[in-house]
Amino acid sequence: MLWKSLQDNYFYKLLFFLFNMFHIIESQQFSPEILFKLFKKADELRNSHKNTLKGKIMTALFYEPSTRTRLSFESAMLKLGGEVIGTENAREFSSAVKGESLEDSIRVISRYCDCIVMRHNEEGAALNASKVSKVPIINAGDGKGQHPTQALLDIYTIYRELKRLENFKIAMVGDLASGRTVRSLCYLLGKFNNIEIIFVSPENLKIGDDIKEYFEKHNVIFKEDDNLNKILPEIDIVYITRIQKERIDLDDYEKAKGKFVINQNNFNLIKKNSRIMHPLPRVEEIDLPIHIEENDKRVAYFRQAENGLFIRMALLDFILNNKSK
Ligand code: CP
Repeated sequence: MLWKSLQDNYFYKLLFFLFNMFHIIESQQFSPEILFKLFKKADELRNSHKNTLKGKIMTALFYEPSTRTRLSFESAMLKLGGEVIGTENAREFSSAVKGESLEDSIRVISRYCDCIVMRHNEEGAALNASKVSKVPIINAGDGKGQHPTQALLDIYTIYRELKRLENFKIAMVGDLASGRTVRSLCYLLGKFNNIEIIFVSPENLKIGDDIKEYFEKHNVIFKEDDNLNKILPEIDIVYITRIQKERIDLDDYEKAKGKFVINQNNFNLIKKNSRIMHPLPRVEEIDLPIHIEENDKRVAYFRQAENGLFIRMALLDFILNNKSK
């Protein structure tokens, strides 16, 4: 049993080393092998965990607002016996306000801790931070760029809910132009077989060419559609997202808001075994009564948010737990 566990951990560490997983910047870094290792670890940690990160310190460095990502990372670290330092509003309460560059901040902060979980308003900020950091940088969202740990919890949720990561249809709905969770999830979906993706977005917020090119290169079947109700009966996962008001101009927001909504009028078009996911926060794009949200298995978004805790525990454990090397 002990030997098996050591072998598992060694294999995992070797994969991390081979696939350059010191920093977590974009979801493309994760191979299916590493994903399944993380799922297994997350399942284990869901049931029991020890203080494997005792003595380790995680910095939560957030230049943009967050509820789930910051608090689930902090909770994950504390549950594994580690400690947390940081700021929830680094733009206002760090020396950035005095004009310090991100690089200088990272050079200093990385001398105080064992990893930095960072959210930043600028695309590419996590990559820039990783170039000067002495400790692992985990990208917790960089502008319109990526949100790789959200993609981890999303794909873990799909696996737990459908019991498979192949042969299914997923609709990505909402602001596909500025939604970093959609982009990160697309990169992971492209690694599995027989997944069909339907993009449903307002005309002014369509998915970018980079994702379409990635899918073409990886032979992923995808199409665009603007009739949500027509496609709802044929899909297994509805991944709906908010219109990102803070990232687009007011004109674009007014054109897009309220265009695609899941509510009591179209909820029952969704198959009984299908699931609605949302990275959250949601605003008006899901409008279902409490009795449905609390009792209908098709509503998966709160389980999805909970999965974030366990997959982030697994990720932190694998990155920081020296005993498993
Ligand atoms: N899904 C997500 O990233 O949520 P927060 O912005 O609350 O962290």
